[in-house]
This record gives sequence, structure tokens and C-alpha cells, in this order.
Amino acid sequence: MEPALQNMAVSFSTFDRLKSKGVAAYQKGDYLTAKTYLIEAAESLIELAEATKSPEVQRQHEEIAAELIDLAKDCDHLHKSPKDARRRQREKEDDSGASASDWIVKDKPTIGFDDIAGLDDVKEEIRLKMIYPFAHPELAKKYGISTGGGLLLYGPPGTGKTMIARAVAREIDAAFFLVSPAQMMSKWVGEAEQNVQKLFEAAKAEDASVIFLDETEALVPKRKSGGSTVMQRVVPQILQELEGFDRNSDRALLFIGATNRPWMLDEAMLRPGRLDSKVYVPLPDAVARMRLLEIYFEDRPLADDVDFGDLCDKLDGYSGADIANIALQSAQLPFMEAIAGKEARAISYKDVLAVIQSTPPSVKQSDLVRYEKFFQGRD
Ligand SMILES: Nc1ncnc2c1ncn2[C@@H]1O[C@H](COP(=O)(O)OP(=O)(O)OP(=O)(O)O)[C@@H](O)[C@H]1O
Ligand SMILES: [Mg+2]
Repeated sequence: MEPALQNMAVSFSTFDRLKSKGVAAYQKGDYLTAKTYLIEAAESLIELAEATKSPEVQRQHEEIAAELIDLAKDCDHLHKSPKDARRRQREKEDDSGASASDWIVKDKPTIGFDDIAGLDDVKEEIRLKMIYPFAHPELAKKYGISTGGGLLLYGPPGTGKTMIARAVAREIDAAFFLVSPAQMMSKWVGEAEQNVQKLFEAAKAEDASVIFLDETEALVPKRKSGGSTVMQRVVPQILQELEGFDRNSDRALLFIGATNRPWMLDEAMLRPGRLDSKVYVPLPDAVARMRLLEIYFEDRPLADDVDFGDLCDKLDGYSGADIANIALQSAQLPFMEAIAGKEARAISYKDVLAVIQSTPPSVKQSDLVRYEKFFQGRD
């Protein structure tokens, strides 16, 4: 295993261990010890936030770290005035009955499949699981085609995994539940098991729902690799909930996991009835790169000399996120000039080229080889 990946795994379980120790000390009323562990837990989560590439997950990590620091501050106060301690602790315990809405993000995404370049196989797989069976219930029954199920999206960073999970919910008009592993484990009193149960209960109450678990490998590492005890209890529970969902009922549940380290997942997670469809989300091919250029330059002024066909060739090896970023940076050049008082000109071919030349692709060739190997079942 590459050292960077190993570190990630270690620090996630480090966070979990520190947090659990902090919570246990808090519940025992040992506020000084609790404070130390909670601050360390917050620090390790901030480290994880810095390491992750997903801005959404980063924001969640930071929010949880802030909550942990608040709790640590509480500890300080409670240690100094023990009289308040009992009352405050009771309040925290009542909090554990708080609704799942505390930590589940349920919303209606605004992006659809059309906003996503390429990934036709992924889109079709999702249509097969969620859209066609709904549109043709009689035929689905006749051929024994059930609705929903589990889907694992894996591939290099910045290829549209998070984006597509959000878009699915809009395509099928489903409720969208976004769960991050850190969030799931962050509620100190209500433990992870209850959180999983609340999540599935909330999802089952909707006609159609999509549960999206980003950074899946953080919650479900291979069981033998150790991990934390909370994770070891939670993995089988998620698997059970997935299997126990009636796929022939009139309600539909699609569970989507996303990861850029698929080799870290527990094989049990990938068996039939669970995350049984694995879909590789690769770097964009030429057609997808062309569409990405259209999407990200569409609303920006472009000079006539910009040749998308040529840029498309030059961008071989770049991810969707890279291309979105290159478009932004190219626009910044004339923008800055205009701010400085020059005439507001269109983005030129030279601008785009300069940005491409100073920006290498974010995904390394050696990482790509590893995804390809996993895709072919050799990892
Ligand atoms: N196929 C695509 N079509 C359009 N935009 C894309 C595509 N892929 C990536 N992008 C752009 O890159 C950004 C990051 O994409 P996204 O968060 O979906 O990547 P990801 O695959 O989930 O990455 P990670 O593995 O790091 O979580 C998107 O917000 C979007 O701007
Ligand atoms: Mg993502």
C-alpha cells in the first residue's frame, strides 16, 4: 500500500479512537481527560480535512471539529464549576434523542445528468436500476427486474462521482441523503449504530430516496485490517440494512457509495444484495473532454482562435475537476488585466495554453494503473 493511503486510514481510526476516549471520559465526568482527547480528536479531523480533495467532505470535517472544540470548551467550564456538571450532562444526553436531521443532509440537488460530461455507462446503469423499472412497472414485474439497490462508484479524484450521485436524486425526483463517515460517528452520545438505523428509517419513509455515502472506504475498511471497534460494528449493520430493504415494494432506495480507494473496501460489502454493482468512473475520454470544455467555457467570452479540438487533445489525462479549474484560471488572466484598467478582452487561445502548460494533470499515471487493475479484477 502506498504510504499516503496508509496514513489516511491510520488517521481516520486515530480520530475515531480519540473521539471515543473523549466521549467516554466526558460521560464519566472526567472533564480534564475528556478535554484533552476531544481537542486531539478535533486536530486529527482537521488534518483529515486538509488531506481530502472533496470540498464538501472537507466542510463537514471542519464543522465536526468545531463541534468537538465546543465540547472541549464545555469540559473546561464543567471542570471549573462541578455544580453545573450534572445538569449539563443531562442536557447532552437528551440531545442524543435529537432527530436524524442533525447529521443527515437531505436536499433536492439542482444538477442533472445533462450537466455531467461523459459517464454514459454510469448513467445507463442508474437508469436501469432506478428509472426504467419505475417507468415500466408491468414489464419490470414480468421480467423480475427489481428497483434500487446498491451501487459503488470508484475512480480517481475529480471525475464526477459526487456530482453524479447528486444528479441521480434529481433525475428520479428522490430525496437525497448525504452521509459522511465522520459525521456518522461524530455524535458522542447517540452512537454510530443508532445513526445508521435513523438514516435508513428516514430514507424508507420517502417514496424514493438516494443515500449517498461519500468516502465509503473510511467507514468500511477491510475488517481484518483492524480499524476501530465502532466501524467493526457498523459495517455489518449497514450491510444488513441494505439486504433487508424490500426491492419489490413500491418504495425505492438506491444506496450509492463513492470511493477513490476501492481496494480498501471489505469484500463483504460488494456481495450480491449489497453494493453489488461496481462502476468505474474513469478520467474523461475525448468526447467527454469536449463536453467539459463546452460546459466550462460556455458562459465565458472566448476569442475566435480557441480551438476546442486541439485543447481536447492537450487535455488527455486531465480530470473533469482539472478542466473546470483550467477554464476558471484562463478566465482569471483577462479578468485581472481588466481590473487593472485594460480593455475587457475575450479569453484567448494563448491564455488557455499558458494555464495548461503550468498545470499538470492531478491524477498520476501510477494511480491510474492501479484503478485499471482493480477494474480488471486483479487487485
Ligand atoms: N464528468 C464531469 N462533468 C462535469 N463536471 C465535472 C465532471 N467531473 C468533474 N467535474 C467538475 O469537477 C468537480 C469535482 O467533481 P466531483 O466532486 O464530482 O469529483 P469526485 O469524483 O467526487 O472526486 P473525489 O473522488 O475527489 O470525491 C465538479 O464540481 C465539477 O465542477
Ligand atoms: Mg467526491
